[in-house]
This record gives sequence, structure tokens and C-alpha cells, in this order.
Amino acid sequence: MAIFKKKAVDLQREIFLGGLRGDRPVIPLRFSDLRLEVKDRLSGQAFDYLDGGAGAEATNESNRAAFQRWQIVPQMLKGISRTDLSIQLFGHDLECPLFLCPIGVLELAHPEGDLAVSSACAQTNTPLMISSQASNPMEAIAGIMPNALKFFQLYWSKSEELVASFVSRAGDCGCRAIVVTLDTTLLGWRTRDLEHAYLPFLYAMGLSNYISDPVFNRLMIEHPPQPGPQPRPNLQLLRSLWKMASQYPGSTWQNFKSRSPLRAIQKFIEIYMNPGLQWEDLRLLRELTDLPVVLKGIQHPDDARRAVDMGMDGIMVSNHGGRQIDGAIGSLDALRLCREVVPDQMPLLFDSGIRSGADAFKALALGATAVGIGRPYAYALGLAGSNGVTTLIDQYRAELELTMALSGCASIDEINREMLYTAN
Ligand SMILES: Cc1cc2nc3c(=O)[nH]c(=O)nc-3n(C[C@H](O)[C@H](O)[C@H](O)COP(=O)(O)O)c2cc1C
Repeated sequence: MAIFKKKAVDLQREIFLGGLRGDRPVIPLRFSDLRLEVKDRLSGQAFDYLDGGAGAEATNESNRAAFQRWQIVPQMLKGISRTDLSIQLFGHDLECPLFLCPIGVLELAHPEGDLAVSSACAQTNTPLMISSQASNPMEAIAGIMPNALKFFQLYWSKSEELVASFVSRAGDCGCRAIVVTLDTTLLGWRTRDLEHAYLPFLYAMGLSNYISDPVFNRLMIEHPPQPGPQPRPNLQLLRSLWKMASQYPGSTWQNFKSRSPLRAIQKFIEIYMNPGLQWEDLRLLRELTDLPVVLKGIQHPDDARRAVDMGMDGIMVSNHGGRQIDGAIGSLDALRLCREVVPDQMPLLFDSGIRSGADAFKALALGATAVGIGRPYAYALGLAGSNGVTTLIDQYRAELELTMALSGCASIDEINREMLYTAN
């Protein structure tokens, strides 16, 4: 039985005793406060890229509303003096069913980006899904957390060779599953980014996995990007080109003169998404790797069934945190629908809307095998770097543990649908 090194009661004691010395937790405990503090810290463009959703952001509201609709019904006097949060996922023993979702362009939140996050994962032994759009190459991220579980999140490019290269690099650097994101074959209508006329990729942010890739670099030479429109230079354009050059590896001046970042960005934009992707294409992954394959972005039970029929190893119910479609079903509701059609033994991962350890309890009760934290850890990173992420993970774990104990669950498999009530 795996018991946390830092149990909930120890964390509570540490915080309260710290108060005697005038210490306070390094990040606010409530998501609403965390969000407001990071909003003050970051530029408007950066905050809105992290925080924004598609359209009028109704899906973000549905994600939260679904959590509010389901309420925990605790049971008393079950003698829970110890709780075991451990689970098994794809044959790996985990101390806790929480993991960190793939979030691209984390350098917008903090200059240390993914490296700070992976260091927090190493410290707390928390699984991480490394994003295709990470701010550091996957090898550098994985290298910091050699013993913690990591998966690679794949955006399926128009170039199958590039897909193969990413998958092979992921396996080589110790990733234990490939998580293919299906919901982002195009960028959603992200109102706030459109209002700012701001896309971080155009400043060479979040491209590390591409510009460090031998296939991508070869494609740039063999199939140079189609020259785009040539806007008339003005001061703002030169500033943007300079910023782009400063994000790219090597000397900023050389990059500025050679325009190679511009070519890399153009090539990236040309191939990083594949709107033509179809179910049959996924078979290629089986030829490329023996690693488990997880489909991220499933919301419809028919798609969940299809994933099972195709022999996928896991499903991740997610609506990308409301960033893709406005007015979509709350992800927690989709989880319940998908669980009904997926065999019990099939891992069902979940994200979109988790804002506390108690939320994770609800997702587990509706059938999630493991639960992904998204924006909250990016905000914790923005406020307090790696320490902020470690603190957030400890807080979520502690609240999940206490919610279990106080509801009468000694282990994760005792959390079930019967623990929840909904009026609808
Ligand atoms: C700023 C940002 C960047 C993201 N980048 C990726 C990504 O690169 N790949 C991916 O599969 N999902 C990405 N996601 C979606 C997350 O993995 C996750 O599904 C989502 O954040 C969950 O919603 P929540 O943050 O509201 O809980 C991103 C989300 C945000 C907020």
C-alpha cells in the first residue's frame, strides 16, 4: 500500500504552524484567487492565451457547472484512519491518481517553463504529459524527471515522418505512453487571442520540439515553406521579428539577419496540424511504437466505443479546457456518458474543469481512472515557479485524501457513482 510521504494532516500542520511564524502558503489555495493573482503578474496577451476559451467561453462555464451539479454524499463512521490513493495505470504503480495535463507554451507563464514543471513532478512523483508544443525539448523535460512517469502528447502533423520522429524520440527519452490529441486538428475560435491579434507560435514560442527535431530541420531544407505574404515593414513588425529571433536558439542578431526563425515558424504553421486526420490514420501508431496509445479529446460515446473497437489502450475525456468549441458539453458529463460504453478495465483519463482535490474525487466517482490538472498548475507556475507547482500538487492531493477519508473511502476503488447526488 503506497502512502504519501507528505500526508494531508502533515501538510495542514505545516501550514498552521508556519502561520505562527507569519508564513503563508506560496500560492493562494482557492482557484479564483490564484487566477486573479496570476492575471496581475502576466501580460494581457500571456494571461489571455492561458486563460481564454473558444467563442463566448460557454464550454468553460459548462465544465464548471457540471462539477457543481454533482454533489458528494459522504458516509460516516467507516473507521477510515488510513487512506490509500494509489492506482495502477498502464502497468505502472502510482501513489495518486492525479497527473499534469499537456500545456503548450508554458514560457508564457514562467521563463523556466516546462523545466520548472518537470522538476515539480520529480519532487512529488507526479506523472506529466509532455506537450508537443512544449517550451523545451522533450528530452530536456524528461531528463529532469527520470523516475517519475511521463507520457508524450502528440499533435498529429501533416508529415507522417515528423509524427514518427516525435514518437521515436518520446520512447527514447522514457515516455511510457503516446497521448494523441484529436480535438485540435484546427485552432478553435479563440476570441481573446483574436482580439489581441496574438499567437505565441508566431514569436517562435512553444516550438522547441520542432526546431530540435532532425526530420523537421530536414523538411525545412528539402521542402522550404511557401513564402507567405510580405507585409510592408514598420517598427512594430521589426520588433516582432526581433522578439522571434530572441526566442530562437543561437545569437539573436544572427537569427534576425538570417530570418531562419521566420522560416521555421512558417514551416511549423504549414505542417503542425492535420485537419484531414481520420480514424484509420491512427493505425500507423501501432506500427511506430509498442507504447500504449491514449486518445485525448474524446467527448462522444460513439467515439469512445470506436476507440475501444480499434484496440486503443486508453481514452482521455477532455474538451481541451473549452478552448476548441464554444457551447460544448461539460467534460464531466461527457465522462459519465463515455464510462457507460467503455469496459471497466479500459483506463479512462479525464480533464477539463478540475479546480481542487474535491473535484478530482467527483471525476473519480464518475468513472475516471486518473485525473488531469490543467490551468491551475500553469497559474501556480506563473506565480511561484517550480515551488508553486509542487505546492499546488501537494494541496490537491491533500484535499483529495481528506475528501476520501471524510466521505468514508479508504481507497480509490471505493469511490463510486453512489457517492454522488444530482438533482437532475
Ligand atoms: C494554455 C493551454 C495550452 C494547452 N496546450 C495543450 C497542448 O499542447 N496539447 C494538448 O493536448 N492540450 C493542451 N491544452 C489542454 C490541456 O491539456 C487540458 O485539456 C485543459 O487545460 C484542461 O482544462 P482546464 O485547464 O480548464 O482544467 C492546453 C490548455 C491550455 C489552457
